[in-house]
Amino acid sequence: MNNFEFFSPTKVIFGKGVEEKVGAELKAWGATKVLIHFGGGSVIRSGLMARVEASLNEAGLPFVSLGGALPNPRLSLVYEGIELCRKEGVDFVLAIGGGSAVDSAKGIAQGVPYDGDVWDFYSGKAPTTALPHANIITLAATGSETSNSNVITKEEGMLKRGCNTDWNRPRFTLMNPELLYTLPPYQTSCGVVDILMHTFERYLSPNTGDVSEVTDRIAEAIMRTVIQYGPVCLEKPDDYTARSEVMWAGSISHNHMTGLGRKTDWASHQMEHELGGMYDVAHGAGLAAVWGSWARYVCDEDVMRFARFAVNVWGLNMNYDDPKETALAGIVAAEDFFRKMEMPVSIGEMLPDVTITDETIEELAVKCTFFGKRTIGGMKRLGKEDIMAIL
Ligand code: NZQ
Ligand code: ZN
Repeated sequence: MNNFEFFSPTKVIFGKGVEEKVGAELKAWGATKVLIHFGGGSVIRSGLMARVEASLNEAGLPFVSLGGALPNPRLSLVYEGIELCRKEGVDFVLAIGGGSAVDSAKGIAQGVPYDGDVWDFYSGKAPTTALPHANIITLAATGSETSNSNVITKEEGMLKRGCNTDWNRPRFTLMNPELLYTLPPYQTSCGVVDILMHTFERYLSPNTGDVSEVTDRIAEAIMRTVIQYGPVCLEKPDDYTARSEVMWAGSISHNHMTGLGRKTDWASHQMEHELGGMYDVAHGAGLAAVWGSWARYVCDEDVMRFARFAVNVWGLNMNYDDPKETALAGIVAAEDFFRKMEMPVSIGEMLPDVTITDETIEELAVKCTFFGKRTIGGMKRLGKEDIMAIL
């Protein structure tokens, strides 16, 4: 097992009706004025916002609200939120919604105490403080409710960039699986793919002496649980058991528990970020579109790792004479699962109305290398030519 550090300080309050506790919880964390930040309005239509406002009023906590966080949340709204917080003397940010609202709220929390341009934190600079923040999530997907990351899109050049920092760790998250019942099926599917991918990205990395069996077995349990219950969420959107299993899996697949003591990969996420920036696609769909091609491209780097994935995650039989056959069958099984969840398994399937030219692929690849400044991936380091071949 490699050396590691694990820091996951977010208090998790999970179950039916937990959103009613939000006012008291904010008070307990010392909030005196709150920004409620949300997306396009699903939280208003579902009645969640009214319950949250009632809870804050009951706790005697003043608040201001800012909606409009789009999927692939935009930098301009982060700037707006920062200004609003400063003007109103807000000292705690509460996000309500999916990963986009949570990520946008994290950007606002970073920017309020910072004198410079918050985009600095998406261009390599590390934050040294942030306003405290928390969330009530309505979509099981990104794990942003406990993660140390957020992803913001700068409109100029449509650049989608992430920031990883412990300042991004929320103080608390309120997770009620019933809040997921209203999700459109497409968002449920995108979420299931994203949860799996957060574990694939850590599990499918080279097995070069840095074995961490406890980490691998936790990862396998999470993947098998999501594979079992993800389709149930589609068939029966109000199945509490299925929603609970997938929702909790979403948090623990991205609080880094499944990456401890081993290398990680992240190439598929980095390629998706360019697709999301350029075409505004849903994150989970973009991941499903690139993953199979990535897996086939890098499989030879560690055939036994992919074969273990096939056997322990997808329940396939090991062909000891030809482990590569087993490895490839595991990749096919994952793609079949994505299809079952009605997700695309290629860029063409995801964007049927867009003409993708060689020039487009090159532009995506160049952006993904940060204009020649980096290579990506852990299983195999990938440069521009590799990324073009995969896309
Ligand atoms: O905006 P509203 O009206 O709320 O509607 C949203 C949005 O249209 C809707 N929705 C959410 N909960 C709902 C609901 N509709 C009905 N009922 C509900 N209960 O779903 C749509 C998608 O929401 P969004 O927040 O964009 O989805 P998701 O949670 O998948 O977040 C995606 C963003 O997170 C980033 C992605 O790149 C993308 O920008 N990621 C963040 C990560 C992190 N912070 O750790 C890690 C991930 O890998 C990812 O990169
Ligand atoms: Zn993701």
